[in-house]
Amino acid sequence: MSKVRWGLLSTANINQALIPAIRASQRGELVAVSSRSKVKAQAYAIQWEIPKTFGSYQEMLDSGEIDAVYIGLPNHLHVEWSIRAMQAGVHVLCEKPFALTLEEVDAMMAAKEETGVVLAEAFMYRHHPQTRIAGEWAHSGKLGEIILVRGAFDFLLPPERRQPNALDVRLVPEFGGGCLWDVGVYPLSFAQFIMGGPPTWVFGSQWIGETGVDEVFAGQMGYSEKAGDSYAQISSSFRTPFHTFIEIVGTEGRLYLTKPFVGLQEGRMMTFYPKRGQPVEVPVPEMELYLGEVEDMHAAILDGKPNYLALDETRNHIKTVLALYESAKTQAAIHIQ
Ligand SMILES: NC(=O)c1ccc[n+]([C@@H]2O[C@H](COP(=O)([O-])OP(=O)(O)OC[C@H]3O[C@@H](n4cnc5c(N)ncnc54)[C@H](OP(=O)(O)O)[C@@H]3O)[C@@H](O)[C@H]2O)c1
Repeated sequence: MSKVRWGLLSTANINQALIPAIRASQRGELVAVSSRSKVKAQAYAIQWEIPKTFGSYQEMLDSGEIDAVYIGLPNHLHVEWSIRAMQAGVHVLCEKPFALTLEEVDAMMAAKEETGVVLAEAFMYRHHPQTRIAGEWAHSGKLGEIILVRGAFDFLLPPERRQPNALDVRLVPEFGGGCLWDVGVYPLSFAQFIMGGPPTWVFGSQWIGETGVDEVFAGQMGYSEKAGDSYAQISSSFRTPFHTFIEIVGTEGRLYLTKPFVGLQEGRMMTFYPKRGQPVEVPVPEMELYLGEVEDMHAAILDGKPNYLALDETRNHIKTVLALYESAKTQAAIHIQ
């Protein structure tokens, strides 16, 4: 195999980000789209110029026409369809959040072991040079000792996506809705990347909207049982205007990212504020935001390399989210290690 043949499992909005990345990649080609409705798949294939269509997800998985699948389903369906794909011998790039319980993550990992296919969580920003540079700055000691990581991902879910007859999947509790699952996982996973692992304790607070999911979530995380060590503060929202940032605060200075997750390359992005002296812009090489996760899959499938984002890290993302929700519910700190 010299090229990976990709199939899209569903006609999700997020496919629009993956399609250009697959097409920009050296070793991937987009060959198929599947939908619960054949008519929908056909219309989608015409719009996006995709050669093959399937009127059921399983049909595409069993067709022998694809090597890898991109799963952009609502959150509660990630596990079922990732496992079905693996059992059909198809490599899987699954959207975040990977799963909604630790048992589900373990079932995914077991299926990967059993089938020998490649399985990865689709956190596109982790593969972008900006994130890697921020990591190098933090891990090389350039910022001194890291004391705090702060970050947010907020956006306004518009009224038309709140209508009962067109309710956004993010607002449905049974679908794994909620802003922490949807976008809070971005600053959460960034903090985990910088701190080198999950927190030892968390404290969460949430505001629950009328459909029963968290529409504002604030989390405090500690990286040691002792006072005076490092912390992270994250927040997410469906109720406030679009805003993202990450700030990595060290004893020698701080690194501030205005666009850590989306909209990269649009203007000023990463600034170093040293202990003394003027702020310095940190240059970031340009790269299509979703290309890195696609190329990473190609390297894993075609060259046998381990995925850059290891499944243990993914498991720790889920573990931390679950602890934060538990804390918000009980209003008590939860110790997770
Ligand atoms: N990485 C990123 O930048 C990013 C950005 C946005 C979203 N996401 C993630 O991508 C996933 C999809 O988000 P999205 O906004 O693209 O979702 P979406 O537009 O609502 O698409 C979800 C798709 O799932 C299929 N589906 C199957 N069962 C369904 C059900 N019971 N209800 C609704 N849809 C169902 C539908 O496709 P068919 O009708 O064709 O079967 C639908 O088009 C989520 O996990 C989200 O967290 C990631």
